[in-house]
Amino acid sequence: MIERVKSAVFASGTGSNFEAIMNQKELACDVVLLVCDQPGAKAIEKAHKFGVKVFVADREHYNSKIAFEEAIITELKLAQIEWVFLAGYMRIVGETLLESYQGKIVNIHPSLLPEFPGIDAIGQAYDAGVKVTGVTVHFVDRGIDTGPIIAQEVIEVLATDTIDSLHRRIQTMEHKLYPRVINELINGGLIS
Ligand code: GRF
Repeated sequence: MIERVKSAVFASGTGSNFEAIMNQKELACDVVLLVCDQPGAKAIEKAHKFGVKVFVADREHYNSKIAFEEAIITELKLAQIEWVFLAGYMRIVGETLLESYQGKIVNIHPSLLPEFPGIDAIGQAYDAGVKVTGVTVHFVDRGIDTGPIIAQEVIEVLATDTIDSLHRRIQTMEHKLYPRVINELINGGLIS
């Protein structure tokens, strides 16, 4: 029997993308671990609901970023994780993790990168008055939201939009796009 690919999701907050991935009936991998750096995050409750193991990686418990990421890697290896999907993980991935999971760490970002990287991308786009924005899925590299782009979806900013309405449409798009790209990556439709 061929073993299914195992993956982990990293989240710091609400975890709606994590939930969307878990709700995808035909996901090409098993999400067997949630790594969360915020002990009180809602994403943790969602993991419990889905019966997914949680590793709470509290940065304050480690002397260095290297030690912090080594502890995460130990958990990833224990769970035989092949792919890491960041979904609202609010930390810059360091050299230690990048080296262990070269070409296997993917992120979703709520803008059309390279426009509006970093925090509050939706607010940045809204304030800039752009007519289109969107969602990007990309490989993670040393920079902040700078890695090679895998897929993008465009969303029109309507004259009637508020930040909240734009946010809702972007999230709805994210929830469709991320599981689809995950499947394409794992089924080999895209080169990592
Ligand atoms: C998403 O908008 C994602 O693009 C960004 O962080 C947000 C996480 O939202 N990286 P959620 O926790 O998945 O609801």
